[in-house]
Amino acid sequence: MISLIGFTGAGKSSLGRVLAMRYGFLLWDLDHMIERKENMSIAEIFAEKGESYFREVEGNILKNIVSQGFSNSVLVTGGGAVLREQSRALLISRSFVIHLHADFKVIVQRLLHDKSRPLLQGGDMESTLAQLHAKREHAYEFAHLTVDSRDLEEAAAKIVGGWYEFNRRSQILI
Ligand code: S3P
Repeated sequence: MISLIGFTGAGKSSLGRVLAMRYGFLLWDLDHMIERKENMSIAEIFAEKGESYFREVEGNILKNIVSQGFSNSVLVTGGGAVLREQSRALLISRSFVIHLHADFKVIVQRLLHDKSRPLLQGGDMESTLAQLHAKREHAYEFAHLTVDSRDLEEAAAKIVGGWYEFNRRSQILI
């Protein structure tokens, strides 16, 4: 399994779709799975049940998917899904972890009018994002590979190349 991690707005869902459409990976989108399980939008879950409840559900679903060890699959995670040590440990030991990096300016442009991300609502979007970005600056560094979000086709090709190498090495180790 390949897992995509990275800051909110980096383009993880779009990259997941490129990997699925161009290379035939099966796509798992963690946020969508949370919404389906709870039958509520992410914004509603945060508003009605709170962030820690959201993190709990997020951690549990992540654990379920990653421990199954599906091959030929891509797991798209939310920007905060790697904040739990347990989730990081699981991802790095059971999947090929890709950090999708985007310039802060690009992220701000993309999210300026976004209403779907509860952590960014209320107050000045750019400074809220800057604070979150500063806090999470190092959260994604544990990935096996970092790719840039400027060209998602190029990023996908790099990931697939890395994925073959990663599998080859894992087989040698086994
Ligand atoms: C979050 C990011 C969101 C979503 C939720 C919380 C975060 O996903 O999981 O709103 O904590 O950064 P994206 O990374 O797709 O924005």
